[in-house]
Amino acid sequence: MARRKKIYEGKAKILYEGPEPGTLVQYFKDDATAFNAQKKATIEGKGVLNNRLSEFFMSGLNAIGVPTHFIRRINMREQLIRQVEIIPLEVVVRNFAAGSLSKRLGIPEGQALPRPIVEFYYKDDALGDPLVSEEHIIAFGWATQQDLDDMVALALRVNDFLSGVMMGVGIRLVDFKIEIGRIWENDYPRLVVADEISPDSCRLWDIKTGEKLDKDVFRRDLGNLAEAYTEVARRLGVLPSNVTHATKPTLIN
Ligand code: TMP
Repeated sequence: MARRKKIYEGKAKILYEGPEPGTLVQYFKDDATAFNAQKKATIEGKGVLNNRLSEFFMSGLNAIGVPTHFIRRINMREQLIRQVEIIPLEVVVRNFAAGSLSKRLGIPEGQALPRPIVEFYYKDDALGDPLVSEEHIIAFGWATQQDLDDMVALALRVNDFLSGVMMGVGIRLVDFKIEIGRIWENDYPRLVVADEISPDSCRLWDIKTGEKLDKDVFRRDLGNLAEAYTEVARRLGVLPSNVTHATKPTLIN
């Protein structure tokens, strides 16, 4: 295959120049990292699963009118996306307490929150992606007030969609992180969901057993990450047929 121009390499994905102006190819690696890359591993098949799962969530969002960067899946590990200007914020939505919220505020993991809580973290690995307020975001020019309003609205629509989809397969969406990008259409900016939506960036708990089916399995050494992701893909009906480690299908009732 002809060599392609690499635009950016992150911890879990690589972006290559796309076939047309304004497009990129997003390649999903098997690498897993946690705690700002202090913990690293290669998990065979993770990239294939996340490519499929992100395709599933992003194309579902596109179909209900929530704009995303996703155009189409190209192959097992790659998808065609629109090139966007990434807003340097991680947008986290929480429905139940877990992770850093539980740690910071002393709220037990699993406690239902009175309403979905939207948080912003400044994307800066050297600083460890610190939690920031809207005041910081406006003052330092990372986004405008209009962007912030649009980002919260977008994040809450994603939350409703993902919560419903996951509930349909017996999984609780505890929280998730999205990234948002800006595209320009006839000189007007429009915000779209970018990056990926996968068990790498969500907390997903089995509704009946509480079993964790997301990257916390890796972060907290709870078992086999690829098996957990395979279970999510299997329940959603998007299991790629040739992932070798796929667990035997089991009935859910
Ligand atoms: P947190 O509880 O560690 O702040 O994580 C909140 C959500 O964001 C959780 O679903 C995991 C996701 N997340 C990422 O996708 N990337 C990150 O770097 C971090 C820290 C969290």
